[in-house]
Amino acid sequence: MSRIVFVNGSYVPEGEAKISVFDRGFIFGDGIYEVTAVVGGRLVDFDSHMERLDRSLREVRIARPASTDALRAMHMELVKKNSLKEGWIYMQVTRGAADRDFKFPEGVAPTLIAFTKAGALVDNPNAVSGVKVVTVPDIRWLRRDIKTVMLLGPVLGKQEAHEKGAFEAWMVEDGKVTEGTSSNAYIVKDGKVITRGLSNRILAGCTRKALMRLAQEHKVTIEERLFTPEEAYAADEAFLTSATTFVMPIVEIDGKRIGGGQPGPVARALRTYYLDEVAKG
Ligand code: PDD
Repeated sequence: MSRIVFVNGSYVPEGEAKISVFDRGFIFGDGIYEVTAVVGGRLVDFDSHMERLDRSLREVRIARPASTDALRAMHMELVKKNSLKEGWIYMQVTRGAADRDFKFPEGVAPTLIAFTKAGALVDNPNAVSGVKVVTVPDIRWLRRDIKTVMLLGPVLGKQEAHEKGAFEAWMVEDGKVTEGTSSNAYIVKDGKVITRGLSNRILAGCTRKALMRLAQEHKVTIEERLFTPEEAYAADEAFLTSATTFVMPIVEIDGKRIGGGQPGPVARALRTYYLDEVAKG
């Protein structure tokens, strides 16, 4: 089935959607994106995604293409036009199309595109089995707090994970885990959740933000600090979070079994709290 996608104000069949070869997203990776989960035809954590979009756009000085209300309406229109029940919506804003020149073009409108992807997020078999992770060097730039489309580091990391039979790669810098190529990273030791604190070294995940609130509500302690791959190997549990995986238990890191090779109780509980909240809408 051909999807209906959004391109600069129009809803068109995916095969008819067109972007200029001069688009700066394409030429320079000069753009910002967001991925919002959809469950039961409803958007998950949408306000958090819009807040982060605003921040990313401000940091790279790309003009906001539309109001939050207009973007929400556009997301809902895509849900409707594609009869999307469960999956996610990818939205990208670039600095627009202009003849190739590194400095910002003048008088050019940003490019705004969005498309849907159907898939099971709630009844995801990976969450039952748990997933494998490998570690790779973090070769990205130093402003990972900005959700840029410049993603070659994560692409190479994810491919390496895939080639090693793993679901995700955890990136390591100065001997410490930063985050996954498209997710935030956590370990659990003695009932305490450990995750790196926010800085320009990692992306402030919207799922992470929701998880922090839920953990507090349910009296789960979260310690924000750096951790090493060795500490992760010896952890009781590990998990990752993102809009496309929610809370995903990890059962193996670099070939070493975590928590006896089964999803752990803390990760499972946190996933349940998150899913309960998603179900409430
Ligand atoms: N990635 N860290 C990185 C580097 C990410 O790319 C993502 C999300 C996250 C988690 O953020 P959130 O909880 O807001 O999804 C952390 C999306 C899902 C992607 O690129 O597909």
